[in-house]
Amino acid sequence: MNAQQPSAFGPLKIGPITLRNRFIKAATNEGMAKGGIVTKGLSQFHERVAEGGAAMSTVAYCATSPDGRTFTDQAIMDDASLPDFRALTDAVHKHGAAACAQITHAGSFTFLDKDTLKTSRPLSASGGFNKVGVVSGRFLKKRMNRAEMDVMADEFVAAAVRAKEAGFDAVELHMGHGYFLSQFISKLYNKRRDAYGGNIAKRMKFPSEVLGRVLDAVGKDIAVVVKFSMTDGPKGNQIDDGMAIARQLEADGAHMAVLSNGMNVDSITAMFGSSLPKAAAKPSNPLIGLAMKVQAMMEPKEVVFRENYLRDLSLQIRGATDMPLAYLGGVQSLDGVEQAMGDGFDAIAMGRALIFDPNFVNDLQAGSISQSGCSACNRCVTMMYTPGGTSCIESKFKPDPKLNTIGAST
Ligand SMILES: Cc1cc2nc3c(=O)[nH]c(=O)nc-3n(C[C@H](O)[C@H](O)[C@H](O)COP(=O)(O)O)c2cc1C
Ligand code: SF4
Repeated sequence: MNAQQPSAFGPLKIGPITLRNRFIKAATNEGMAKGGIVTKGLSQFHERVAEGGAAMSTVAYCATSPDGRTFTDQAIMDDASLPDFRALTDAVHKHGAAACAQITHAGSFTFLDKDTLKTSRPLSASGGFNKVGVVSGRFLKKRMNRAEMDVMADEFVAAAVRAKEAGFDAVELHMGHGYFLSQFISKLYNKRRDAYGGNIAKRMKFPSEVLGRVLDAVGKDIAVVVKFSMTDGPKGNQIDDGMAIARQLEADGAHMAVLSNGMNVDSITAMFGSSLPKAAAKPSNPLIGLAMKVQAMMEPKEVVFRENYLRDLSLQIRGATDMPLAYLGGVQSLDGVEQAMGDGFDAIAMGRALIFDPNFVNDLQAGSISQSGCSACNRCVTMMYTPGGTSCIESKFKPDPKLNTIGAST
């Protein structure tokens, strides 16, 4: 550790909040909002992470509106959910950690059926063929007009305000992985010829506008974090785009960026740094099972995991901006943590290491462990849509499916 390098176990200020250390539980779709209810199971999942030492736990996929869901079993940041979200944030705060709500909209990456979705076609930056529609049956998407963009921006603001009311300390705007805001940023999805399409500055214009409005609405009270994909895969955004995105987020005043990579449909192994498993858990919804099979067929085979697999890309982003950055991608050991801190990142975001063992941070700090037992097999990804929700098949921490049917506040 060099003299200037802060300790990963020391505090970090992001925007108006101070975290007790620099470890953040990355959003990992918990699959514990059955019927859209914020359940006791979801609350317990994040409470365990808080108890286990991380400074902030990110609740994945809180949809900005009913149409913003990918699947019906996802939570919506609406008034009805506030008491349950409040119970969840209370549980996290009890252990001295902060709670972050990942607020997002699916855009065209949705499997909602035609009776559920309000619009006849899912909305996106551009219209035309919808890749995910091959499985969902929604073959066409609709190019949004300015009035629809206004409604969407309003929904993001309203969701952030509700997150604050529910006791969240931060919101994470999802601008990556192929969800709605990244459908504007990505050259794979955005084919517009107006002020919101073309070069990366234009593709960032609408996401920047949403970020600015969210910052104005809640940025004095809670942290506003952005997660984005540094690259999209072979034909999409490349690292030059990623650097431009980071510079724009810094200019907009985002309090921190979480650096991810890849897109759900187009390049999922770029996100995980390892292959999807050949034998998957059986999801309750057969459509999801089919989507996973199709995806596994299309992705590169035998991608071999290496620790801190997004290091090279992330270092290029680090060189492009001075804003606080959370390193994400394959941190599995104290050495991996030290490397990311030595590289100049401000925080360490972890997904699978904390699914494997929510006590990982405490154990690292106590010196009782230096390496996670997670094998990066990605079988937890296939558990998301089972009745128990996201869990590690190898870990001793198992969710109780019964808790996934009752509201967190009941
Ligand atoms: C089971 C599972 C579900 C995930 N769901 C989400 C999600 O809802 N939102 C998101 O931004 N990233 C999601 N991710 C990606 C993680 O946030 C993270 O980018 C990825 O796991 C790499 O980090 P890691 O090597 O520390 O696991 C998910 C990852 C896993 C393993
Ligand atoms: S199932 Fe467990 S061991 Fe496999 S990647 Fe997920 S957390 Fe790691």
